[in-house]
Amino acid sequence: MSERLRIAVLGDPHIGYPADDRWDDVVADINSLAPTAVFVVGDLTGYGPSTGTSAAIRHAGRKLDGLAVPWYSVIGNTDLQAPEFTTDEEAVGSFLTVARRDSPWFRVDLGPLSVVGLSGTSFRRNSETHHEIVFEAEQLDWFAAQLDELANRPVFVIAHAPPIGSGLLTMPELHAHLGNAVVSQNHNPGRVTKIIWNHPNVLVWFSGHNHLGHCYRNAISVALGVHFVHAGAATETRDGLRHSRVVDIYPDRFEVLTFDHAVRRLDESLTYSEPTSLAGLLAWRTEMKGRLYLARDPETMRQGPPLEAIHEPGIA
Ligand SMILES: [Fe+2]
Repeated sequence: MSERLRIAVLGDPHIGYPADDRWDDVVADINSLAPTAVFVVGDLTGYGPSTGTSAAIRHAGRKLDGLAVPWYSVIGNTDLQAPEFTTDEEAVGSFLTVARRDSPWFRVDLGPLSVVGLSGTSFRRNSETHHEIVFEAEQLDWFAAQLDELANRPVFVIAHAPPIGSGLLTMPELHAHLGNAVVSQNHNPGRVTKIIWNHPNVLVWFSGHNHLGHCYRNAISVALGVHFVHAGAATETRDGLRHSRVVDIYPDRFEVLTFDHAVRRLDESLTYSEPTSLAGLLAWRTEMKGRLYLARDPETMRQGPPLEAIHEPGIA
């Protein structure tokens, strides 16, 4: 089948400020792929004293504006960290000015699917670690309401980090130490998972956050019919691999490709092919919902009988 929808997903850009010439080539690389839209998992600015500052985010936005098609970025942890902001609302507002949106979260309808973006919105008010990517209640309510409204329509999610239970194993020591490997890690992370499991139309969840390439086992995982896809970083990486994701959606299947910015071409050895249509995956997820092998309570991942039954007097 020849009809194809192509999107690109960029992992953490970390675009240097005041200069980062590598991004001109990255933008040219993505333009050469001719996607319909580009999605970014957040963390727009490079490292150092300018990280997350309004000037650095504006600079990153100008680089991304070189893309030939619209780009949509969620907010990552480092986008909110600059000391120039005294409140999280100020930091979020500064980011949204560059992103040209009113809201940290977004929905984009593209042909056969909708793409939903979810952002971290708190930094200073996080209690355990400022760098946790927290999905606060208002956003989660919006997310669930969108999924209800989009029932029977495939949904891809863009977020900075994966949810708990995704099966993605590319978690570096840094995030284990900080306690920010998964979204809302210290704030009931199971609530995010529960929304996903209760809405079969969530088919693919993209995240970045760890700056590793795509060649590792479980850089893509499938858990309960949901594809969890890690997106690498184009320039600032922990392993030297400069990868971006490209997704081709056909009427009968989809493919997740890897663009290698070091050699400026697709690396076909890293192509993942899903031989089922989005409609087929949605039907399968719908059928799976509530069946055996699902945890009885996705919020706690518990699979056995209720704890009260186990602790009943008389049961050893
Ligand atoms: Fe990052």
